[in-house]
Amino acid sequence: MNPDLRQASIEYLIRYGGDRFENLFSSAKGSVVIDDTGREILDFTSGQMCATIGHNHPAILAAMNEAGSQALHMFSGMIPEVVAELGLTLAQDWLPEPLKKSLFINTGSESNEAALRMAKLYTGGYEVLAVGGSWHGVTSGAASASFASDRRGYGPPVPGVYVIPEPYAYRPLIPGANEQESAMACLEFGLKMYDMQSRGSPAAIIVEPIISAGGVLVPPKCFMEGLRRAADERGMLLIFDEAQTAFGRLGETFGAVYHGVVPDIMTTSKTMGGGLPIAATITTDGIEHEVHEKGFTFYTSHVSDPLMAHVGLAVLNTIRNENLIDKAREKGAYLRSGLEELQQRHEVIGDVRGVGLLLGVELVRDRKSRSPHHELGELTTSRCFELGLSMNIRRRPERGAVWRIAPPLTVSNDEIDRALSILDQALKECVDALAKPIP
Ligand SMILES: Cc1ncc(COP(=O)(O)O)c(C=O)c1O
Repeated sequence: MNPDLRQASIEYLIRYGGDRFENLFSSAKGSVVIDDTGREILDFTSGQMCATIGHNHPAILAAMNEAGSQALHMFSGMIPEVVAELGLTLAQDWLPEPLKKSLFINTGSESNEAALRMAKLYTGGYEVLAVGGSWHGVTSGAASASFASDRRGYGPPVPGVYVIPEPYAYRPLIPGANEQESAMACLEFGLKMYDMQSRGSPAAIIVEPIISAGGVLVPPKCFMEGLRRAADERGMLLIFDEAQTAFGRLGETFGAVYHGVVPDIMTTSKTMGGGLPIAATITTDGIEHEVHEKGFTFYTSHVSDPLMAHVGLAVLNTIRNENLIDKAREKGAYLRSGLEELQQRHEVIGDVRGVGLLLGVELVRDRKSRSPHHELGELTTSRCFELGLSMNIRRRPERGAVWRIAPPLTVSNDEIDRALSILDQALKECVDALAKPIP
């Protein structure tokens, strides 16, 4: 450990929000990250939900090498061969029809920015309907359509964004209603409010197939079908933000496939690069043709960069070659049953939810009141880290206290067992510590 570097990180780096650790980190491999003391920590967030095939997978390193021997970057108007190959692979081997054409950029925020620009140009409208608890990124358009957090203090959002309350089965909008009824009430209520306020200029509905930052909320299929209908009825394009759900994490190729609903535009990012920044905005032939005719531009310095396309192809091939979609289903069921077993022994686990290897565990003061236990969430997350497990906690007062657990799809049963035993120990210790009277 180099104390000068720890000090430098405090003195010279801008703090950008979210969790920050005292330790610095030196390397990562598979499901593990290693800190500056040489300690191995299980990474049950796959980095920033990106390293689905495990950190530093040899296929990614080989792809980077290959790019190094060919080209890393080019003039944005020159389409590298490997970018054409990635477009072809996506269209022929992965995408649900009629999705077909891709724009390759770098981050999730950018992919949603491009999707919103496309929808506005296509429809001639500007109004965007988003879902409560959503997170689509930090650039203007994407941030304006994000409702999980971080809206305050940055001035007016892009005009014309409206919100539908999020379906939240554990905390239904209508107390006592079942999951479907409550979700449909959210939809009906949100659409009614939107229709009332609309200036007659609809453009898009944007939604995550699983509302992740909002607390790993899984909308029922009827809600997603309802969004499809609502978009069609109003002449809006339906955008699925699949930053976290594309390419296997759910035990299906995409959230769209899981729900059985195909959007007009799909955005993919995090899980496409396995830890490197490649994202895609994907649409149909018809929409691409029309926006092109209308002069669509999204010309960035790194659009169609060959380095990232090599990496993207390597990630997609690895997911297929190592059967990682099936593994996500199997390991997800294994991890989930372990979490449910913990729930039987720990009253503070109110809810275990999610799909495949994108799981959420909500901590409550007691199961009757379902009152979120933020203190415990914070304490257990820190204790887990000390014991060698990193996972993410949503601890905004308005969002409940929810652990987000999303290890790489390559995680082993042994690693899952270790994580579960750390969670068990941390919960026991922290519940006891909070129960002790203050001397
Ligand atoms: C669903 C979703 N969309 C978009 C983004 C933004 O992606 P990026 O941070 O790569 O800009 C995120 C990031 O957390 C996300 O979870």
